[in-house]
Amino acid sequence: MSGLSRKAILGLHSPLARVVEVHEALASTQERARELARAGTPHGTLVVAGEQKGGRGRLGRHWGSPQGGLWMSLVLRPGLVAGLAARITQTAAVGVAGALLEIGVEARIKWPNDLLVGGKKICGILAESGVGIGGRLDYVILGIGMNANLDPSDLGVIDREVTTIRHELGWDVDLLLLLSVVFSNLDATFGRIEDFETVLDGWRNLNCTLGEKVRVRRFGETVEGRAVDLTKEGALLLATPGGTVEMFEGEIEHLR
Ligand code: BTN
Repeated sequence: MSGLSRKAILGLHSPLARVVEVHEALASTQERARELARAGTPHGTLVVAGEQKGGRGRLGRHWGSPQGGLWMSLVLRPGLVAGLAARITQTAAVGVAGALLEIGVEARIKWPNDLLVGGKKICGILAESGVGIGGRLDYVILGIGMNANLDPSDLGVIDREVTTIRHELGWDVDLLLLLSVVFSNLDATFGRIEDFETVLDGWRNLNCTLGEKVRVRRFGETVEGRAVDLTKEGALLLATPGGTVEMFEGEIEHLR
């Protein structure tokens, strides 16, 4: 895997990568990270793969993960009450968007946590949590899939528009440098998760959903309206002809 070795990643001295596994190929970093989490691995465990044979996206979708991308899962033990688990994905989106901006990629967040450039997806984030005793989160597996040193056609995605860092910048990015920028941004945003309003302000600054006309599908129901703001826990507020509707989750489509 170009530029990424366990030793080099440990050399970043990131608190998010204190235990590191690097695999040439894996079914899914998400599944491996979960195994490690259940076996008690500490906060700050990172699993990276050069290629995933069974990469997973949200809602059980397949996530194409050929060589050249940055496919990784982090085991976090944030000590949050389970009710606050939803904060993780938006916090991560702010961190990763900040990292992409830092390397020169103009990424924007589509609610709740997709990262797009010019409307095309460049990175997906999948947070899955395990609840422990006392209603606290035992662990969170934060999966991040960055379309890095690939051409969009390598991803084999036909139903959605996708882009890659190579396509946006016109050159390949050093994956170790990318990882280090992602870690420093994530570390900073996770440090603010208890003060979620500041994270949401970051989200508001980096998003491309607010102000748009959108369609959100959840539990077989479809709601259309204008995305006006977020609640203090990050739910999307939609202005609809029938009044304001609060969406905690769902598949969102920006309407033109
Ligand atoms: C999405 O649907 O947008 C989320 C995609 C998450 C993909 C990443 S790649 C690394 C990790 N391993 C997986 O199998 N999925 C996540």
